[in-house]
Amino acid sequence: MKTIFSGIQPSGTLTIGNYLGAIQQFVEFQEDHDCYFCIVDEHAITVPQDRLKLRQNIRSLAALYLAAGISSDKSTLFIQSEVPAHTQLGWMLQSISYIGELERMTQFKDKSTGKETVSSSLLTYPPLMAADILLYKTDIVPVGEDQKQHLELTRNLAQRFNNKFNDIFTIPEVHIPKVGARIMSLQEPTSKMSKSDENEKAFISMLDEPKKIEKKIKSAVTDSEGIVKFDKENKPGVSNLITILASCTGKSAETIEADYAGKGYGEFKQDVANAVVDVLKPIQERYNELIDSEALDDILDKGAEKASLIANKSLVKAKKAMGLGRVK
Ligand code: TYM
Repeated sequence: MKTIFSGIQPSGTLTIGNYLGAIQQFVEFQEDHDCYFCIVDEHAITVPQDRLKLRQNIRSLAALYLAAGISSDKSTLFIQSEVPAHTQLGWMLQSISYIGELERMTQFKDKSTGKETVSSSLLTYPPLMAADILLYKTDIVPVGEDQKQHLELTRNLAQRFNNKFNDIFTIPEVHIPKVGARIMSLQEPTSKMSKSDENEKAFISMLDEPKKIEKKIKSAVTDSEGIVKFDKENKPGVSNLITILASCTGKSAETIEADYAGKGYGEFKQDVANAVVDVLKPIQERYNELIDSEALDDILDKGAEKASLIANKSLVKAKKAMGLGRVK
């Protein structure tokens, strides 16, 4: 059985971008794969976080994973900082990473440009991500499109380690969904929808109420043409809404274009809003049941225990390959 690993940062309430680009595929993968899903809190602290908010976001993300359909019987769900092997291997992989290649990462450039101070961990973020993945002998990493470059680097680091020391790491493949890999901002449809956007109207949070969702979609930036047509370059706003509708309903872009031929944006936007509400409503109901439950803690405890077992084995191998510590 192939192994899947993926992670999400607890840096704010997840958006439908995170759901459609990532979690939706996780739920499918867990049916016939050995899955590890991680709350990557150590990645979140690469930019400043409020400690109480971070704690809340960690728990909230755990509840959202489960509410969205991740089953603790089928998958291992855990918090990164509760499995110390991640930072340990992360440090070792930093030692074979080059500053130049880390500086070339677009996520680093995006998050550091114009900032007065930038933490060094923002630069060394990708070797920690590589450690996350490599500890579990991961075959496939399902992510949205923005993580492609980090995955390329993970593969390079694994290969570099294997060539330099010992052939211990599996080289992971990236898996990006055909539809929904890059959900765009509702206000600036040429930029990615992001949970850390300062403009709340730009994203739909997975916990937004139906009324709010409707309002945000109705005020989404489109164009004055009035034609529902998928054309990313010339009609980015409409194309983004088509993608959201397609991902929520399973319909193709062509079917959607045909469905709205001769109709304006009003009806189309209403249907997009309804489709998003239909997907999120049951998730929100389950979320409310889970968020304060003891069951959530049990799942995270068991998850960390199981993840540690696998991760520690890989760490021992990696330390041995690099010559760290003593022979035992
Ligand atoms: P993060 O927390 O930014 O996003 C989590 C997942 O959601 C996807 N995603 C999107 N997909 C479609 N449209 C969007 N607008 C959108 N925004 C986000 C991301 O591609 C991602 O799959 N570095 C990672 C976290 C990470 C990780 C890992 C992922 C740490 N270690 C190991 C995989 C494997 C990140 O910042 O994701």
